[in-house]
Amino acid sequence: MRVLVTGAMGMLGREVVQTMEMHGHEVWGTDVASSEEHLDITRPDQIRYAISSFRPEWIVNCAAYTNVDAAEDHEEEALLLNAKGPEILSRVCRKAKVKLAHISTDYVFDGTKDTPYGEDDPPCPINVYGASKLAGENAIRHQMSDYLIIRTQWLIGLHGRNFVSTILTAAQVRQTLSVVNDQWGAPTFAPDLAKAVAALVEMDARGVFHVCNRGKATWYDLACKAVELVGLSTRIVPVSTAEYPRPAKRPPYSLLSTKKFTEKTGKLMPLWQTSLETHIRGYLQHAKGSA
Ligand SMILES: NC(=O)c1ccc[n+]([C@@H]2O[C@H](COP(=O)([O-])OP(=O)(O)OC[C@H]3O[C@@H](n4cnc5c(N)ncnc54)[C@H](OP(=O)(O)O)[C@@H]3O)[C@@H](O)[C@H]2O)c1
Repeated sequence: MRVLVTGAMGMLGREVVQTMEMHGHEVWGTDVASSEEHLDITRPDQIRYAISSFRPEWIVNCAAYTNVDAAEDHEEEALLLNAKGPEILSRVCRKAKVKLAHISTDYVFDGTKDTPYGEDDPPCPINVYGASKLAGENAIRHQMSDYLIIRTQWLIGLHGRNFVSTILTAAQVRQTLSVVNDQWGAPTFAPDLAKAVAALVEMDARGVFHVCNRGKATWYDLACKAVELVGLSTRIVPVSTAEYPRPAKRPPYSLLSTKKFTEKTGKLMPLWQTSLETHIRGYLQHAKGSA
């Protein structure tokens, strides 16, 4: 099938393009940052033109404003990309009869539960980014009845700044790093998520699905494991959220239940520890290549 990917130069977008191509689909990766494959999701004229020239069956929207802390001071920009963009995309898609798969986040929840969040749990964002992503979900629901929304969390990939790359960069120059040990989630690897997105699209799934890697961790657990796998001797010190204040509040617990995804696709997401090992091998190869 023909699949148009927006935000295709981002961490997830690149993996979605690659996975869809590997699955034999005809894929057009577009991004606001690309001059040749330019598509801005806030521009209905550009979306309409892309649809009429490529005639995709699906659009997979990986474009977003993803800087959680910066969003606190840039609410307008976050809302434009995370709420207005999906609204425009879904309106144009509905009229052109194109199916839309949209990526959302665990940060639509407040993190007060202590068991994994299901798709029907009531959202209650506690930061601007989460509120803007929830507004995007709601805009899509308002525009279309047959949307596909995939919520994920703690995304890690080779093509973009993320927690693991930040920790490994810092660990090379510092002897000690303080890392938060009272926020729980599941580190989720962009190649695994891309395969899950492809599976749902290929099955013509509709509705909301939670997708993250299996297992749970704190940021401290993830930092320790990443530093150990790279073979660095940096000391990782566990600290509380209160000891490490950030501009945006984070949910203390935001694990997502992938039960619905597994029931629909028959697939189990890989354990985060296994995918971290694969990621680190790629990270080291990448580092060697660019040295
Ligand atoms: N990263 C995480 O930890 C995480 C967690 C949960 C959910 N998610 C969700 O997963 C999805 C993918 O995240 P990601 O980390 O891969 O994002 P990312 O690396 O920031 O990539 C987003 C891409 O979209 C592009 N973009 C920005 N504005 C655009 C516009 N108006 N039109 C078209 N493209 C535009 C960006 O370009 P510029 O770089 O030039 O702005 C970037 O290439 C997002 O929906 C995000 O909310 C991410």
